[in-house]
Amino acid sequence: MTPALAEATALAHPNIALIKYWGKEDDDLVLPAAGSLSLTLDVFPTTTTVTPDTGLTRDVVELDGRPAGPTTAYRVGAFLDLVRALAGRAGAKPLHARVRTRNAVPTGAGLASSASGFAALALAASSAYGLRLDRPGLGRLARRGSGSACRSIVPGLALWRAGDDASSYAVPVEGPPLGMVIVVADVGGKKVSSREAMRRTRDTSPYYAAWVRSAAADLGPALEALRHDDLAALGELVESNALRMHAAIAACRPPIRYLRPESLMVFEAAEELRVSGLGVYATADAGPNVVLVCRLRDLARVSEALVGRLGQAFAGRIVSAGPGPGARLVPVGTAAEDPARGAPPAVRGRP
Ligand code: PMV
Repeated sequence: MTPALAEATALAHPNIALIKYWGKEDDDLVLPAAGSLSLTLDVFPTTTTVTPDTGLTRDVVELDGRPAGPTTAYRVGAFLDLVRALAGRAGAKPLHARVRTRNAVPTGAGLASSASGFAALALAASSAYGLRLDRPGLGRLARRGSGSACRSIVPGLALWRAGDDASSYAVPVEGPPLGMVIVVADVGGKKVSSREAMRRTRDTSPYYAAWVRSAAADLGPALEALRHDDLAALGELVESNALRMHAAIAACRPPIRYLRPESLMVFEAAEELRVSGLGVYATADAGPNVVLVCRLRDLARVSEALVGRLGQAFAGRIVSAGPGPGARLVPVGTAAEDPARGAPPAVRGRP
């Protein structure tokens, strides 16, 4: 019997990796070359509603109240194909859906996240098409949309293991309460998508193999540091891991430089804050924004000290975040959080 259909709305938060995922072992299945570790945040959720509709002749995708661009629409459509295949709703006359997504990030802040997006879509779409997936099942599905999305299924600290299609999903891990200070170094969009940059790094960077080996080797010690509440050991790994990823990326052909002069200023500031006695370490994803990792209780001190170092111009570009919840279904009709709710000029942090 084909499962029942109903509109479903899901909410998911972005995550920032402490030990990065950069490189695929399998492009179709989105299997990572090495495991990764992240913190799901409590800011900037994505809310997505999926409504299957027999009257539609194609999927209709809306992002923040406007029709999605062709790349996003294509990726969402391909993801829905996968969900339909799992639910037995593919075939000659697939049942299309209307997808409405809202990101609680001011557009253009450079923080829009495919992780929260595909985590929310995986949960809303699987539920709307009548699939009842457990957390591993959801993680495996979200992974196919965007690798890092499988970590946003999980609350707080999440470990995504490398493996095959059945075993590669994220699980929660124990650790001390961590906080993150996101510093928006540049509000422009990415020049090269992480998908393309990942492929180019694997295919052309002479450092790729060494990066994968070293990232895989970081995982055990990082988990050990979490277990022993050793922020210094964890932080050193976090910073070194991020810089190694960026080194491998910078070495590809044609080269890609995500970090900008302002990003490096933030890495320097982290080092100076450490000298002054604060436990704070820097990391950066595939873009110019830098994220400082510290203890949750030190969040306010870290952002204050950072503004002290970098100047007031940075005050409106700092977002403080703590551990957030995993993806969850919310009542149908729940509106996405208002992106502008109290936002300073560029972005805003936790309430
Ligand atoms: O999940 P993707 O394809 O957006 O890749 C994410 C890659 C990084 O954000 C740079 C690292 C990570 O582990 O999240």
